[in-house]
Amino acid sequence: MCGIIGYQGERNPKEVIINGLKCLEYRGYDSAGIAILNDGKLKRVRAEGKLENLNKKIENIDFNGHLGIGHTRWATHGAPSEMNAHPHYVDGVSLVHNGIIENYMDLRDELLSCGAKITSETDSELVAHLVAREFQISKDLLKSVQKVLPRLEGAFSIVVASEDQPDRLVAFKNGPPLVIGQGDGETVVASDIQPIVAYTKKVFYLEDFEIAEVTREKVEIYNLKGEKIDRMPLEVSWSSEKAEKHGFPHFMLKEIFEQPAAVQRAIAEYLDIEKKEIQLGDLGFSDTFDQYIAKANKKNAIETDEILKNVERVFIVACGTSYYAGLVGEYLIEKWARVPVEVEFASEFRYRHPVLPKNSLFITISQSGETADTLAALRLANESDVTSLSICNVPGSTIDRESTGHIYMSAGVEVGVASTKAFTSTLALLNIFGLYLGKLKGEVDRDEEVRLVEGLIHLPSQMEQVLSYDKFFSQAAETLKNFKGFLYIGRGVNFPIALEGALKLKELAYMHAEGYAAGEMKHGPIALIDNRMAIVVVAPDDDLYEKTVSNLEEVRARGGQIISIGTEGNKKLKELSLHLLSLPKSEWSINAILSVVPVQLLAYYVANALGHDVDQPRNLAKSVTVE
Ligand code: M6R
Repeated sequence: MCGIIGYQGERNPKEVIINGLKCLEYRGYDSAGIAILNDGKLKRVRAEGKLENLNKKIENIDFNGHLGIGHTRWATHGAPSEMNAHPHYVDGVSLVHNGIIENYMDLRDELLSCGAKITSETDSELVAHLVAREFQISKDLLKSVQKVLPRLEGAFSIVVASEDQPDRLVAFKNGPPLVIGQGDGETVVASDIQPIVAYTKKVFYLEDFEIAEVTREKVEIYNLKGEKIDRMPLEVSWSSEKAEKHGFPHFMLKEIFEQPAAVQRAIAEYLDIEKKEIQLGDLGFSDTFDQYIAKANKKNAIETDEILKNVERVFIVACGTSYYAGLVGEYLIEKWARVPVEVEFASEFRYRHPVLPKNSLFITISQSGETADTLAALRLANESDVTSLSICNVPGSTIDRESTGHIYMSAGVEVGVASTKAFTSTLALLNIFGLYLGKLKGEVDRDEEVRLVEGLIHLPSQMEQVLSYDKFFSQAAETLKNFKGFLYIGRGVNFPIALEGALKLKELAYMHAEGYAAGEMKHGPIALIDNRMAIVVVAPDDDLYEKTVSNLEEVRARGGQIISIGTEGNKKLKELSLHLLSLPKSEWSINAILSVVPVQLLAYYVANALGHDVDQPRNLAKSVTVE
């Protein structure tokens, strides 16, 4: 779960690499480093902690070479420290690494017995030693890496540079992503496309077990047998998005406030506002990824419809917040399309020998498109006779490329480690998908479609209204931070929102928080309740409202302090609650999206009041590319 980058070309490598690392910092932020040619030597600077620490160290250092590599780390082997930070350097060879070398203990013993001076606790340094040793013999970086690869076990990617061949980088991928951008007399290799598209739109996505020799002028790709692979670069249209806070104190708060616009963008693609109609269009089921993105007009809508009409079962597989979005999807799809849906944690799904019947649709949800468990589950599904569909925020990410159908969150770059706008955009898209499937299956009639589309059209402006709770939480956080714990409860489609609220608070405020189905409280968790426990209830107006209120009476009777998220004008909820945050009147499926905003704001402000780094909470990384 690290970010790696390499650059060669006429620009200042320090700038390209640092800007690239800024884009990649979501992949890990416990230390960072660079190695750039200077007077023919790979000059290395590393720093423990966030990228800004490295930045300070190199501010006044100039490098006169035109090739370099950089790294931002999420520790696996060895504590987060300068000593363990990348790049590693051994006898003129420098290397950055993302992933895990599983047989590192054997390699370490072997190298130590040959007298190697190992200076870190990492598995990565061992690879640098092995490549440096081979380089002494072959004097060729590509050959040296090729020779070492069969000795390494695990899923990992590397980029290697050598002082003795200062005109090239060698990159290898097995697992964590690597993209190579081919510009005009310059090349960039990186863990994702964002650091690249600022310089070129021509990219090569390395596949597993491919090695690339990259010079300024060309990219040559080989398989493990050393055979050259003929591949043309893919021309992408995505542009670079600068991650800027635009006056907000944190990216997370900015991203919370961007949600109305993000949701609007996500749904605009699929709504005919005048006709109040949903049109899913061509999801690309019959094309390869390259064909799909190269198509000027995506016209295979009829085929998409045919495939979806035949779907008899839906599986939704994801992790973390994306998994909770999947749970919301289950309520929506089952209600509207009457198709059975199973939602599962990707990390569990892949190990339970799942049965995937024919005519199943296998949906993965992933903001990053790189989550290792979700990707592995997708690969497993792709081996069987099902159709896969990804809902991703990063076009061209591995999960997007390996899925047969594609829906994009269009939320824009999400920098805060805690997912916010990607979640609400996904919920809006699941509304669209569920309704469309319901239409195809003849379960949703025109009146219902019009009513629900109207709900979606009003969603962005209603989200704007709910954002006004920003003020409330900025003040209430001082009190809320003193509760001993939080229970989030909800029923039906609001239950996953309760789970998401609890996850947000855990990851940002490091407080004990649990999400529960409100009706389950009496089966155990009610024992936790006393007056030091806050209960956040998600109970907007819907069929289950009365039942949730009864559950709240039980909580109230035991002294629990209730913060309610309900619908405006709801008297009963007001009587029971310490605070009532009311949402504008809307459809049940839209209420769930509106309810997310207050739980995000609560977590943000409580974490902030506790003095935590909300954008980069401890121990986490935004993209989890290890198992
Ligand atoms: O990129 P993905 O959506 O696949 O990521 C899945 C989870 O790692 C992610 O949602 C995580 O739970 C977030 N930190 C939640 O805020």
